[in-house]
Amino acid sequence: MSRAKSGVPDRLPTADSASLRDHPLLKACRREAAPYTPVWLMRQAGRYMPEYRAMRERHGFLALCTNPELAAEVTVTAVRRLGVDAAIIFADILLPLIPMKVGLSYEAGDGPAIERPIRAAADLARLAPVDPAASLGFVADSIRIVRRELPDLPLIGFAGAPFTLASYLIEGGASRDFRHTKSLMYREPTAWERLMTALARITADYLAMQVAAGADLIQLFDSWVGALAPADYRSFVMPHTRAALASIRGRVPAIHFGTGTAGLLEAMREAGGEVIGLDWRVDLRAAWERLGPEVAVQGNLDPMVLLAGREEIRRQVRAILDRVAGRPGHIFNLGHGVLPETPVDDAIAMVEMVHEMSRR
Ligand code: CP3
Repeated sequence: MSRAKSGVPDRLPTADSASLRDHPLLKACRREAAPYTPVWLMRQAGRYMPEYRAMRERHGFLALCTNPELAAEVTVTAVRRLGVDAAIIFADILLPLIPMKVGLSYEAGDGPAIERPIRAAADLARLAPVDPAASLGFVADSIRIVRRELPDLPLIGFAGAPFTLASYLIEGGASRDFRHTKSLMYREPTAWERLMTALARITADYLAMQVAAGADLIQLFDSWVGALAPADYRSFVMPHTRAALASIRGRVPAIHFGTGTAGLLEAMREAGGEVIGLDWRVDLRAAWERLGPEVAVQGNLDPMVLLAGREEIRRQVRAILDRVAGRPGHIFNLGHGVLPETPVDDAIAMVEMVHEMSRR
């Protein structure tokens, strides 16, 4: 459906908007043939990059995320260094937890921590309501700055999917088995439903804000959804993921990403997304066949391969491109985020290899 037909006003046309529409990354989202395979890296701005570490010596992580000029600088620096085909706004999936007032912090090296997690129905009452336009406007501002600085490059907005957000809110941080999350889901289905409904609403509003500010596509991160049985995904999660994607549907393409999702691929496609993100635990071609011809795919190099030296990187990049065999609709990426130990020059070399080996 065209944007005009959907009744959604387009952004003001700029000199660049026509050519941007034909960028290989946006063509891939529409499964159109492109002159080369577009590539970007999840967590392309991060601790593996000396420029990022230098910024972090001067500013805390949340200070970087919430200051639009600094966040835009982090985004743009990484893009220029890597030569990738997309910019992703520098932010974090947990930023919507700030206005919820649950005590979010990022401890050096240990990842995020939530001081007052949600463990029971009664805890839901103390979640402050979230209006992304009011409390997360700094993300829209950094999108506008990056849009201006990189007018010819697709800009990716992103958000966490309801399940992955819920898992942090409930566990209070990272988890191996998601026992508190599943316990609430099974024992208090009504509270679960209320929490997921609220998170889906917030995510929908947050994504719509990013698209209005200039994001050309979005990625929904359901990083930990692979912990679920397929039937539980369908009944406890899928309707909320679908609702989270509803606000941008037909306006910009969505990449729907998760890890450990070999058992969930068909259900994730039903939940939505023009592109399905694959991790390295699945064979790309077999996964794409299961997903069907109506979606594009993103992935799926094991991030660890970037630690294995140029020869192995080259071999594995070629293997993935061979699995795709020139079929339109592939965005090259890692199967998950760049590891902090990754040599920057090898990440750059990987991007060059994808471009060079896929050129048609
Ligand atoms: O891709 C990009 O370059 C954009 C920036 C981005 C960050 N986080 C910056 C960040 C994106 C897209 C994310 C998404 C995100 N955040 C996810 C989904 C992707 C995934 O990895 O599964 C998740 C689960 C989070 C939550 C989160 N934030 C964790 C678990 C951590 C700690 C672990 C880690 O890798 O550091 C963070 C912190 C974080 N988010 C950092 C960065 C650059 C590191 C902060 C620092 O120490 O400087």
